Amino acid sequence: MSDQILSLEKISKKYNQAKTCISLFENFDLSIGSGEFIIITGPSGSGKTTLLNIIGFIDKFDKGRVYLNGEEITGISSEEKNQIRRKYFGFIYQNYNLLDHFNSIENVALPLILNNESLFNAKKKASDMLEILDLKGRELHYPNTLSGGEQQRVAIARALINKPRIILADEPTGNLDKENSKKIFNYLIDYVESEKISLVIATHNNEMKDKSTKKIELTK
Ligand SMILES: Nc1ncnc2c1ncn2[C@@H]1O[C@H](COP(=O)(O)OP(=O)(O)OP(=O)(O)O)[C@@H](O)[C@H]1O
Ligand SMILES: [Mg+2]
Repeated sequence: MSDQILSLEKISKKYNQAKTCISLFENFDLSIGSGEFIIITGPSGSGKTTLLNIIGFIDKFDKGRVYLNGEEITGISSEEKNQIRRKYFGFIYQNYNLLDHFNSIENVALPLILNNESLFNAKKKASDMLEILDLKGRELHYPNTLSGGEQQRVAIARALINKPRIILADEPTGNLDKENSKKIFNYLIDYVESEKISLVIATHNNEMKDKSTKKIELTK
């Protein structure tokens, strides 16, 4: 099992809100291998976002174990989680989550700067990545002067810039029309395939299902 990057074993997750207890996962197992494309589907409220957040060390779980490269890391400190998150994961959010006061280059360069890369190198790499995503000429635009599809591509560039091992994408094309959604999905697939990055996507887009290596269907 040497090419397993991350494994979740017997994960349980409940939310207690007011008087109701929502049990989202019970003894849930998932392993993410190198270069895998995992697709998560399920109705609204079934736990897709929560699962992505558990995988990416953003949400905590109640029970279960986590292994990274075959080594158990359940219960590591928040600081260790932050380090792993920065090194291993790229996140693409449904609503882009770009920083409004930063232009495209600055938004994309940010993860590199947080990883102590020089400003000069970070901006050069960000500019190259924007070009790959067909955004040449939009480097100095602020998010509110970009179209939805352009903002989404900036968000994808930001998620890819660190060459993460795993991309976590929450309905990455949810707000786009069919043509743009297809285009963006193809960018993403080509890039992760060429770089052997694993991709975990929560989506309602059935066309994506054909290319996946694993399908997780959550129910309510
Ligand atoms: N912090 C929280 N406290 C209590 N309940 C929560 C919390 N976060 C999420 N939930 C509940 O957990 C369930 C799963 O939420 P989640 O956001 O993971 O669903 P989802 O499958 O991503 O839905 P959607 O397709 O609408 O994005 C929902 O019923 C939600 O109300
Ligand atoms: Mg969601």
